[in-house]
Amino acid sequence: MSIRRVAVLGSTGSIGKQALEIIEARPDLELHSILCLRNIDLLRQQKKKYLPSISAVVSPEGDIPPDIIKGTGVLDQAVEGADIVLNAIVGSAGLRASILCQELDIPLALANKESLVIGGKLLRDHLKAGKVIPVDSEHSTIERCLQSEKRPVRGITLTASGGSVLLMSVDEIRTAGPERILKHPTWDMGARITVDSATMVNKAYEVIEAGWLFENIPVEVVIHPQSIVHSFIRLEDGSWKALLGQPDMKIPLQYAMQWPDRELDVLADDKPVNWGALTFMGMNGEKYPAFSIVVQTGIDGETFPAVANAADEVAVQAFLEGRILFGNIAEIIDEVLTLHQSYSVGSLEDVLEADLNARAVASGIVSKLC
Ligand SMILES: NC(=O)c1ccc[n+]([C@@H]2O[C@H](COP(=O)([O-])OP(=O)(O)OC[C@H]3O[C@@H](n4cnc5c(N)ncnc54)[C@H](OP(=O)(O)O)[C@@H]3O)[C@@H](O)[C@H]2O)c1
Repeated sequence: MSIRRVAVLGSTGSIGKQALEIIEARPDLELHSILCLRNIDLLRQQKKKYLPSISAVVSPEGDIPPDIIKGTGVLDQAVEGADIVLNAIVGSAGLRASILCQELDIPLALANKESLVIGGKLLRDHLKAGKVIPVDSEHSTIERCLQSEKRPVRGITLTASGGSVLLMSVDEIRTAGPERILKHPTWDMGARITVDSATMVNKAYEVIEAGWLFENIPVEVVIHPQSIVHSFIRLEDGSWKALLGQPDMKIPLQYAMQWPDRELDVLADDKPVNWGALTFMGMNGEKYPAFSIVVQTGIDGETFPAVANAADEVAVQAFLEGRILFGNIAEIIDEVLTLHQSYSVGSLEDVLEADLNARAVASGIVSKLC
């Protein structure tokens, strides 16, 4: 049995923690490294429990023990020597890690969808080589559905739960506070992606992500509140193919870390009788105004998606801190995009520059709203 060394970037987050449990349970996976932004207490506990070769923190607050590395260069040290890298960093900060995997030719299990949204063009070589393995449950599903298809498919339909606002009126949504928005009905995730699920910015990202992963296949979205169908493909004859099961990120995580053809464990004791009725409905532009705004940035390309993402990160943070209304998030993204003079993306620096400028503009708008 060959052992695969896994680097878990963002180990203290929702995805990172689940990945560590999978690695611990599998004799063919070994933990190469763990890395987080600043949650040193949890990183310490993880180091003690899971025994990685390298533990790294990017911006620690206070003192850290000598066996935890920190500061410039920790990302490189965490990635080098790994057989596969799980990028579970949240936000635009994850792009650098994805590019590093491409440079070092290390397969990338990609939870950080922002890497493709803002920097898909920069990851083309790794995408073309088939070394970007999606962790998003929707894209993992599409990947698995496409695998045995010899004929071209008609399209991809991504399912969206509708997030915590699905049953609220448009007026209620506008003023809903963080405690309501963070109550996702079907998925237990990090704060930012939970808010992004409620605005549907997350689903718009997934449309853009699908465009990079599955080039030239049309992508649609359908709301499916139960999150049992993890997306569909439509076959040549008009019939549909899907992957079904309880929402559980360990399924796509295990699949990505075991890529391409290593054995999979049964992770859930699930039966169709547990699912109840499965329902589907079309996208509601009034409830989710940010969805089409962000999808359009994927069509417009250049620096637009990076700007939308930066504006969203600033707006979501301000919302979580109680400084703006939920309804302001889409307005801020829209305004920052309107003010942006886009340019083509040729390097990581191009993306980072657009990201930085958009953050400054978005912060200015937030200050005026407070
Ligand atoms: N959660 C899900 O179910 C789910 C599903 C599909 C896709 N995703 C995607 O997976 C990614 C992670 O999501 P999450 O929900 O796990 O987020 P999360 O719970 O907020 O965790 C984020 C992780 O990233 C680390 N981090 C943040 N900035 C960093 C930086 N500059 N350098 C290094 N590490 C950094 C955090 O460290 P600290 O703890 O120290 O801050 C933490 O470990 C996102 O892109 C999300 O869209 C998540």
